[in-house]
Amino acid sequence: MKIGIDKIGMYTPKQYVDLVELAKHRRVDPAKFTIGIGQDKMAVAPLSQDAISMAANAAAKILTAEDKAAIDLVILGTESGVDNSKAGALYVQKLLDLPNRARVLEIKEACYGATAGLQYAKLHILQNPTAKALVIGADIARYGLDTSGEVTQGAGAVALLVSAKPKILALDLATSYFSEEVPDFWRPLNQMIAEVDGKYSNEQYIRFFKETFADYQAKTKYGLNDYAALTFHLPYTKMGLKAMREILPQVDEAKQNELQQHYQQETLYGRQIGNIYTGSLYLALLSLLDNDAILQPGMRIGLYSYGSGAVGEFFSGVLQPEFKAQLDPMYYLDLLAKRQKLALDDYEAQFTAQLDPESENQALTDDDPFAKYYFAGIVDKKRV
Ligand code: HMG
Repeated sequence: MKIGIDKIGMYTPKQYVDLVELAKHRRVDPAKFTIGIGQDKMAVAPLSQDAISMAANAAAKILTAEDKAAIDLVILGTESGVDNSKAGALYVQKLLDLPNRARVLEIKEACYGATAGLQYAKLHILQNPTAKALVIGADIARYGLDTSGEVTQGAGAVALLVSAKPKILALDLATSYFSEEVPDFWRPLNQMIAEVDGKYSNEQYIRFFKETFADYQAKTKYGLNDYAALTFHLPYTKMGLKAMREILPQVDEAKQNELQQHYQQETLYGRQIGNIYTGSLYLALLSLLDNDAILQPGMRIGLYSYGSGAVGEFFSGVLQPEFKAQLDPMYYLDLLAKRQKLALDDYEAQFTAQLDPESENQALTDDDPFAKYYFAGIVDKKRV
């Protein structure tokens, strides 16, 4: 029985900051941001787009009435949750008019949450082969103005429809995970911006990659030559390349070049959006599939998920015969092209205003044509 990703949908808000402009404003050489870090633009969520509305917008892009009727599991992976108790996925279930006869929950483990959700969904479909599961990663990454992490902020969501008839990627049964408490990145309760030990977090990301890749290799006997492409959680687009370079010497030069060429395609969306935490690995997968003309059905793709704190997981899947027909690259080209550039003054003013907990009590509107849903503010203590 095959289980895997049937459809992928993505949403990112309509505003972005140009990182060459930001670099000049911060008196940094722009090449550090565009080459050293590998980011050109960073998505900025207005107050009217939170993790829930972005999640619903990403899922609304892919779900048909038939899909909705079959969904009996909804998981939101997020570290930008809006409630200490209630699962944000319950709002998503209601907004999308999904069946009540469903298990609906939220998973938190930094950027790893959506992968935990995907693995849960895989086991769920194994037990319930006629059902479908909706797994979404949605986040807003905030490090603070004029911090070294600022250039690696972003916002957006990726939704995965998981089923026993996956039209995009059939997941291999094996998977390799590794967890250890490490203080690389965290966000204390009631703090809107993350704390991070940047260089240390890079080292942990790579250490966990090597651990999980080696374990997966031992379990499955797949060598690096067996993968057409490797996809990575991309907190910024240089990060995955740093990790991949650690294992590239395992293959000859031609294969090394091939893997690095595919890697460029997986970074195209992330370069323009930034870190969307839980959704970032799946944004890289979507970018690869939408932009890479060489990939063919039957090819194996590796996926590396990393959530600070930290949990890493390496797994893989095989491209399905109809995968190209499931994609809609023109839609995302349009979505990204129609975004509005934020003036830096406006970006800084918005950023500062959003740190005020009172900011959500105002009535909000949103005119983004790509957003079916938005957050309208808090009324009588309830999110609308
Ligand atoms: P930094 O200290 O500003 O940058 O922090 P740097 O000095 O390390 O420079 C970065 C790169 O730019 C270097 O290249 C420089 O050489 C190069 P590298 O040696 O790394 O290949 N550079 C230049 N290149 C061209 N022209 C120039 C130039 N100047 C310098 N003129 C850092 C960078 C990423 C650490 C920072 O932005 C940060 O802390 N970001 C947030 C943390 C992060 O993204 N960590 C990634 C791993 S952890 C993770 O992925 C989990 C996470 O997503 C959270 C979660 O799980 O929820 C973050």
